[in-house]
Amino acid sequence: MKNKIKDLRKLRELKNVGGGEDKIKKRHSQGKMTARERVDYFFDPGTFVELQGYVQHRSSNFGLEKKKFYGDGVITGFGKVDDRIVYVYSQDFTILGGSLGEMHAKKVVNVMDLAMKAGAPMVGINDSGGARIQEGISSLAGYGDIFYRNTMASGVIPQISVILGPCAGGAVYSPGITDFIFQTDKTSHLFVTGPEVIKAVNKEEVSFDDLGGAETHSAISGVTHFVGTDEKDTLDKVKELLSYLPSSNLHEPPREMTEDPYDRMDDKLNEIVPVNPNKPYNIKTLIELVVDDGKFLEVHKNYAQNIVVGFARMDGKSVGIIANNPGVFAGTLDVNASVKAARFIRFCDSFNIPLISFVDVPGFLPGKDQEQLGIIKHGAKLLYAYSEATVPKLTVITRKSYGGAYIVMSSKHLGADIVLAWPTAEIAVMGPQGAINVIFRKDLSTAEQPESLRERLIQEYKDKFANPKEPAAFGYIDDIIMPVETRPLLIKALESLENKSLSIPRKKHGNIPL
Ligand code: HXC
Repeated sequence: MKNKIKDLRKLRELKNVGGGEDKIKKRHSQGKMTARERVDYFFDPGTFVELQGYVQHRSSNFGLEKKKFYGDGVITGFGKVDDRIVYVYSQDFTILGGSLGEMHAKKVVNVMDLAMKAGAPMVGINDSGGARIQEGISSLAGYGDIFYRNTMASGVIPQISVILGPCAGGAVYSPGITDFIFQTDKTSHLFVTGPEVIKAVNKEEVSFDDLGGAETHSAISGVTHFVGTDEKDTLDKVKELLSYLPSSNLHEPPREMTEDPYDRMDDKLNEIVPVNPNKPYNIKTLIELVVDDGKFLEVHKNYAQNIVVGFARMDGKSVGIIANNPGVFAGTLDVNASVKAARFIRFCDSFNIPLISFVDVPGFLPGKDQEQLGIIKHGAKLLYAYSEATVPKLTVITRKSYGGAYIVMSSKHLGADIVLAWPTAEIAVMGPQGAINVIFRKDLSTAEQPESLRERLIQEYKDKFANPKEPAAFGYIDDIIMPVETRPLLIKALESLENKSLSIPRKKHGNIPL
């Protein structure tokens, strides 16, 4: 027995050094952790359990039989994050560049299947040269098996992709299907075709960073939701996100007790909306004044900043916040903002997270660009996402709520459960200037003093629409509230809807305008 245990110890040591000490040293000199160090850092101490650590590839193409390593370039298993089970795979770049062949893929598939059966989140740490070229079709088949499972798991368990190195070629489509993508700044790259292929095909010179770096994907393409300054910061952010999420669609999100009183009223809220309706204000400050302990985890911070989305807690329970941002494009809705918010709403709805919308929106962003980019189909996504969401939906109109954007932004008409308006709310088909130009064009063109007529008409329009009285009289607004009352009222409303039960008509699935 003693010898057997000695042998096992040796085997374990071999397994734990991945591609070898030299390669590990190289990674450390580049400021990178190994796949195993990442896993150890990620999980609560001592909770990680490795599975299939002794798997090896079985290919002999192009001399591969001489390059066999335990684990085949990926560490898989489960552990606990804040005492809840999470499944993981972590690609090991020291073994054949973390490339994915038949057995590597089988290991990933195995933990994905277990995560689904166990109803626990799946976190994939990506650091790989992509499909293992020597294994040909087996590598492609492996990716296909993973993509299929990503799709089946969508809306069932939270799926998170963490990109800490290269993620190239078709490999990007697994992260692309998952719910959230994290990237480290400077050391991670995601792209379908690399700089060399682009140069050969398009005669275009482009750097790795411009093509697939964290800045590109978090600010321009919107592929990436969160950016970490380094690997530890990125993994810390993943843990923070998980704290807001349930383990699966059959679970409730965890409740975090708070010292923040549910009936706290912050006077600053009464002063936050400027008297001049064209002046912006900081929507994130507003959110922080309302939610528990001022803690707001913003998703897609750098992308489509005219709308703000993210997670917070109200009386300890997770909520998804969607808020127009009057500080960027006056808070108008455009293609990117619509898609960003729609995807966030659908995530929250899949995972039983109630929605709170703060509305200050002058309309859709006008322009040829937006029309040609397809604002009709993309704006429709937001409409669709709000309409189909069956979680509790609360709306607070803080200022402008004009035209189609009024309807889109979680109005009663789309099934919002409770709509509150601040006294500063203005709900109308359009803003005063545009409205007067349309309905009084003839009168203005023939008037002796068009400017004084215009001023009078604008004032009349404002008296009628620049307040929430008429929509309240029609029942489209449940209450006109003091801004300071927002937190206690939202918490009471959430409590009243805790057992909300609503089903949509039976169907295979809807056809969201993609
Ligand atoms: C097999 C690979 C590999 C791959 C890297 N390696 N990528 N082996 N298949 N795809 C091996 C290298 O041969 C090397 O082995 C080791 O990993 C480290 O690679 P280096 O090139 O030395 O590292 P580095 O200089 O850091 O460059 C990393 C890299 C580069 C940028 C990722 O390796 C690279 O460009 N790789 C190819 C990327 C690619 O085109 N992949 C295919 C994408 S297409 P040794 O033994 O020397 O240590 C794809 C299709 C998927 O993935 C389709 C799914 C539907």
